[in-house]
Amino acid sequence: MEHDNASPAVTSHRHGRVWVITVNNPPVNALSAAVRLGLFAAIEQGEAQPEVGAVLIVSEGKTFIAGADIREFGKPPVPPSLPDVCNRIEACSKPVVVALQGAALGGGLEVALGAHYRLALPGAKVGSPEVDLGLMPGAGGTQRAPRLMGVKAAAEFILSGKPVGAHAALEAGLVDHVTDSSLTALDAGLAYANELLAQGTPVRRVRDIAITNPEIALSELSVLAQDTAKKSPGLYSPLKILEAVRASVELPFDEGLSLERRLFMGCIDSPQRAGLIHAFFAEREVSKVPEARGAAPRTVASLAVIGGGTMGAGIAVAALDAGLPVTMVERDADSLARGIVNVTKVYDGLITKGRITEAHKAATLARFRPSTNFADLAAADLVIEAVFEDLEVKKAVFHQLDAVCKPGAVLATNTSYLDIDAIAAATRRPQDVIGLHFFSPANIMKLLEIVVPSRVSPDVVVTAFELAKRMKKVPVRAGVCDGFIGNRILASYKQAADYMMEDGASPYEIDAAVRAFGYPMGPCQVTDLAGGDIGWATRKRRAATRDPRARYVEIADRICERGWFGQKTGRGFYLYPQGARTGQPDPEVLAMVDAERAKKGITPRSFTPEEIMRRYMAAMVNEGAKALADGIALRPLDIDVTFLYGYGFPRFRGGPMKYADTVGLANILADIRAFAQEDPLFWQPAPLLEKLVAEGQDFASLNQLPS
Ligand code: 3HC
Ligand code: NAI
Repeated sequence: MEHDNASPAVTSHRHGRVWVITVNNPPVNALSAAVRLGLFAAIEQGEAQPEVGAVLIVSEGKTFIAGADIREFGKPPVPPSLPDVCNRIEACSKPVVVALQGAALGGGLEVALGAHYRLALPGAKVGSPEVDLGLMPGAGGTQRAPRLMGVKAAAEFILSGKPVGAHAALEAGLVDHVTDSSLTALDAGLAYANELLAQGTPVRRVRDIAITNPEIALSELSVLAQDTAKKSPGLYSPLKILEAVRASVELPFDEGLSLERRLFMGCIDSPQRAGLIHAFFAEREVSKVPEARGAAPRTVASLAVIGGGTMGAGIAVAALDAGLPVTMVERDADSLARGIVNVTKVYDGLITKGRITEAHKAATLARFRPSTNFADLAAADLVIEAVFEDLEVKKAVFHQLDAVCKPGAVLATNTSYLDIDAIAAATRRPQDVIGLHFFSPANIMKLLEIVVPSRVSPDVVVTAFELAKRMKKVPVRAGVCDGFIGNRILASYKQAADYMMEDGASPYEIDAAVRAFGYPMGPCQVTDLAGGDIGWATRKRRAATRDPRARYVEIADRICERGWFGQKTGRGFYLYPQGARTGQPDPEVLAMVDAERAKKGITPRSFTPEEIMRRYMAAMVNEGAKALADGIALRPLDIDVTFLYGYGFPRFRGGPMKYADTVGLANILADIRAFAQEDPLFWQPAPLLEKLVAEGQDFASLNQLPS
């Protein structure tokens, strides 16, 4: 066996007549400059040796190749480019085989498409997730996949970004063979390459395959382009993907490749790419919290919820779905019966939609133990309280938990706003008490704010992060304050929206501007969906402590006083005739808004969508900066992830703090100062924002973990 190390990230050796090239670039074998160079050189070496009859590309570790090295985007390019590497592989005069194990994604799939024969282990996954990063395949994927899969199927595959398993890839024509053995990729690949050699199989280049039914393909692409423009309005890369795939039909292969490259570079330069890649890294960084250094998680083999209302039931379902046994404790038999229905109806809904079977429901609910007896909590490793949002009720519950739970059990509260230090103080074990703030519906929404009170032990924080992972949530560490990260900042920009409404923007204009920015819904639509009564109750609770100097807008209160709580009552900011889910503007609401303006002597003025968003975002960013300075959020990226996963912030903008960096902090601060002329109390610039602007810094500079 001859060895020759082309580069540390890529090694190669001859095994009989097969030249084996191994990629080894942990953790995911991304195609860094070293890997690209190594692959290019190794192919040339293999080709040059007369003893070599075929080339095999494999990789070490869990993934084949996870794609381009995302960390290199936005930096000066280092040759060889990935298209050059893929083309060099394809041009090889000896058959090149790839053996795929784990994920072959993005550029990793493109490397495989450059090869002549593709073998997959049964657990392999192939996909083109570039669209999720604001990108498109940029190394031949849009030209080669249509030749293998058919044009429409390839376009849909690339637009979806979703990876498929080995057998689906075989069916789609992306791979040639799936091993059904337990061989390693190396052994399976060697066997396959030797078989090809024994049969004298020649090279087979994807570029030489003709596109089938080009006329039909072009009309299918036109339909897809219309659908795409409707489904992903405002997104840059999906339409570029379709343009490139169209080129695979209309242009000779090399011209198609050049066009793909140009379109890809356009995507690289787009702010959407920067926002989406920021989101990709941010959602991985959020779990890196100070407590994770050194503390080990406690064992959680069973979970309990207190309360079977909206949240308790949703959390129970999320925990059951994570495979945990779940006890639900309610205050009396009637409430418990409602709690049981709240849980079972979720599974019934899934059965109706054909997503699960009766047997699955029965097996899941076999782990569900409803009870009205707090003593049944004695064995639980982790308890999540989700009773009414009332400090005294919660304190009483925690007092009871302290009496019945075993030592070391984690005691969590799902409170939205209340002081968790005060709740912890109702027990003799504040070190075990933490906030686990789920979002509604808790079995669906990904965000979990892990709220860290002052006396909690670090291993409880680590346990919470572990639980989040098991429940497939995106956890964000938050400090204790009124509303934590999300609801605290929400309160501020909703106030800005209320002021605009009173000053002249209609609820419908505000919603439309927010949607045009990229949110799925505007704030008034969200209020109608969640139920106007929830916010109303909070406002009434806070009335006594509200700053008497602060401007208070009563429009939403007037609507609630009429019993108009939104969708559930058929009326809120919008009208929902006959249970409709999409609301219609309500002239009576507009009249009520006018009446409120008149009462305060306000002459309404007009707002452009642009001004609406400048005010909305300025309020959000300003409060975000204050939450950062207070230590409520560890880093700007924690705020970004909170809003991406809990509040529908458009992902392609990366999150509010990333957006602020994109716009420029000096511009945001200038807006705040201008707005402060009207209302200096509300529009007080965050000192942190002023400091960053004075230093010429951005929020990104604060995204390192504090040491
Ligand atoms: N480049 C650089 N770093 C990457 C990376 C990539 N393509 N993919 C993952 N990483 C990093 C992660 O940031 C993480 O770093 P950290 O440990 O410092 O936080 C580490 O690798 C491990 O990643 P995960 O935590 O995500 O590991 P998992 O095992 O959960 O998932 C995975 C593995 C499925 C490969 C997942 O990482 C993934 O989906 N990666 C991105 C794949 C992708 O989008 N590829 C397309 C890139 S664009 C492209 O190829 C353009 C081309 O067409 C020209
Ligand atoms: P809910 O009113 O739907 O449910 C509360 C449940 O707690 C009721 O079923 C009630 O019978 C039960 N309960 C009350 N006192 C109890 C006691 N002493 N022992 C056992 N059970 C008791 O309320 P919801 O919406 O589920 O809210 C629960 C908590 O979750 C609140 O703290 C709320 O702020 C928080 N939250 C609510 C969100 C929402 O969108 N609804 C989102 C995130 C958090």
